[in-house]
Amino acid sequence: MTEAPANSPGPDLQTIRESIPALHRTIHDRPLIYLDNAATTPRPQPVIDAITKYESQFPANVHRGVHTMSGEATAAYEDARRRIAAFLGANTAELIFTRGTTEAINLVAGSWATANLKAGDEILVSALEHHANIVPWQLLCQRIGTTLKVVDVLDTGDLMLDAVAAAITDRTGLISMTAVSNAIGTVTPIADICELARSRGIATLVDAAQLTPHMPVNMAELNCDFLAFSGHKMFGPTGIGGLIGRPELLEAMPPWQGGGDMIRTVTFEQSTWNSVPWKFEAGTPNVGGAIGLGAAVDWLQQIGMGTIANREQALLSDAVARLTSIDRVQLIGEPSKRAGVVSFLIDGMHPADIGAMLDRHGVAIRAGHHCAEPTMARFGVSATARLAPSFYNTESELEATETALRRIIDVFG
Ligand code: ALA
Repeated sequence: MTEAPANSPGPDLQTIRESIPALHRTIHDRPLIYLDNAATTPRPQPVIDAITKYESQFPANVHRGVHTMSGEATAAYEDARRRIAAFLGANTAELIFTRGTTEAINLVAGSWATANLKAGDEILVSALEHHANIVPWQLLCQRIGTTLKVVDVLDTGDLMLDAVAAAITDRTGLISMTAVSNAIGTVTPIADICELARSRGIATLVDAAQLTPHMPVNMAELNCDFLAFSGHKMFGPTGIGGLIGRPELLEAMPPWQGGGDMIRTVTFEQSTWNSVPWKFEAGTPNVGGAIGLGAAVDWLQQIGMGTIANREQALLSDAVARLTSIDRVQLIGEPSKRAGVVSFLIDGMHPADIGAMLDRHGVAIRAGHHCAEPTMARFGVSATARLAPSFYNTESELEATETALRRIIDVFG
């Protein structure tokens, strides 16, 4: 599928919104304003249709049967792999399906890092990481004696390349960093970090969970060793995502989980492994999920990731301007490059209360630590309220959210 150019007239928002059934709901008798896209995106009809077609017409297992339905399921599953990999600038065999970003990072920790790092080696992360890019490394450190090192950010929330460079030592074995902070919206200089790491012979993993929904991603241009992403944050279903890996690393890595489909031969004495990527896909995979995610990337490509990025930048600027116009609102994180989210506090109100009261106005946001407790601690807070608009949101929805916030402050503040 050809990507729509970024200078195309732009998406017909009305048509796009009509194709997302969940957006037609009312919540507490108000039209839903869904601003929790960083947590998960609502599924468009083509994704629902693709899953329904699999579940209703060829709900068979893959790679296993000689019958027609199994062949159809296998073809659809592998074709989804081809389209998703191409969408992210990777070759088909470089994409391993996982449950999502979390499982992809755990796979690297359990396989590549276990086999290649040793006691005393350092894993560098930033102060902006989601728990999914912290805890797997802590578990590894407990298991094999590696050390987790954290690169701090500026008070704006910006991650500086110099700070990453300064943290590298001759024991640095892996730099595993987010491309976009899910908690405060910082876009990190991830391509430069990967280039720096490469020049020092250090492996890289990019947490792209909050990157792939917001801008064009090209694995070859990023030049990282591993890239982890989640389908449900890019309009696909939950429970599916992937790990893209450099082929020579994937080839050399030991399997992570054992079971059906990841083997070539099995005896009670020993087993041999299937080729990449199936070597890393033990057990029956999420076939419908992969097919649904394939439909999601087709849908995103028709709209165009460049168009999506431009539209979201306009919405984020609008959201920042509206929030900062309200007395008592404090933004948490004011990064120079932002994607996905705006985090804020209202003086005297708990973020959970802001979220609950916005829900009464039909506005869905996330409030809490956003699975990024160390990021919250870095900014001296325990939680924030977070607006996470997507390209399909409208300026009038942001205006209605501002009005709701002003009313909440008047009534309860
Ligand atoms: N990681 C998801 C979020 O940021 C769940 O909300």
